[in-house]
Amino acid sequence: MSNNLLAGKRGVIFGALDEDSIAWKVAEQCVAQGAKITLTNAPVAMRFGGVQKLGEKLNAEVIPADATSLEDLENLFSKSMEALGGKIDFVLHAIGMSLNVRKNRGYTDLKYDWMQKTFDISAISFHKVMQTLYQMDAMSDWGSIVGLSYIAAQRTFPDYSEMAESKALLESFARSFGYHFAEKNKVRVNTISQSPTMTTAGKGIKGFQEFFDYADKMSPLGNASAEACADYCVLLFSDLSRMVTMQNLYHDGGFSNMGMSPKLIEG
Ligand code: NAI
Repeated sequence: MSNNLLAGKRGVIFGALDEDSIAWKVAEQCVAQGAKITLTNAPVAMRFGGVQKLGEKLNAEVIPADATSLEDLENLFSKSMEALGGKIDFVLHAIGMSLNVRKNRGYTDLKYDWMQKTFDISAISFHKVMQTLYQMDAMSDWGSIVGLSYIAAQRTFPDYSEMAESKALLESFARSFGYHFAEKNKVRVNTISQSPTMTTAGKGIKGFQEFFDYADKMSPLGNASAEACADYCVLLFSDLSRMVTMQNLYHDGGFSNMGMSPKLIEG
């Protein structure tokens, strides 16, 4: 269904790796709603070919950028403005990766140089994206920036490990930078705290299927899908949400406000 909510808007979407990626669904939905976009991912992700396929399908230029590199980000935003024909109206940051999780290091035995790399990729990159956009004056007035988070920023989910602190940092950057961007030119910054979703990053967490099923039972509406997350992103990129900023918004079928669910006891 299209209501042309993003007609005439220009966007940059980070993080589409394959068809399961949340960013993949967001990109499809933004274009269906009338936006013009560019797609970006880390140069290593280009090898898998998924993002190029999506670019062809959506008629979107694909511009590689390591989100931890300021040089890559400057190049990305100047090429995006060129390709899209003006300043950027919306940006999706959908990037997450933990080196310690990937290499099976438990939370009480973390390697700190890996932890720093994890924070750089999963959280500091969000600040780098915003600072680059800010300094280049690349965002349109009343633009919208969204990052994707998870409730482990507030509550303990042991297997989520150092990604919990990454998400806490990410959400804090949204609040702090949200202030500066609103003051500069009314740009809003929010994070969406999404349900567990079957993606490459999601499945990297130990016991993810059990985790997914538990959350599904605990949430009265069930887990929010990647497609539903894409709809929520469209709302946040559209003019209908122009006074919402500096928020962490739960998109989780009600999970975050539940105490106990009879469904879990029934089995
Ligand atoms: P995904 O694996 O499809 O996407 C993660 C993306 O990060 C990939 O496209 C990867 O290439 C990119 N990336 C990694 N390092 C990068 C770098 N240095 N520069 C640029 N891009 C880089 O998985 P998913 O689940 O779609 O992840 C998107 C976001 O959603 C992440 O922030 C994740 O933490 C968040 N999220 C995911 C949930 C889930 O259960 N899958 C739940 C809540 C939030």
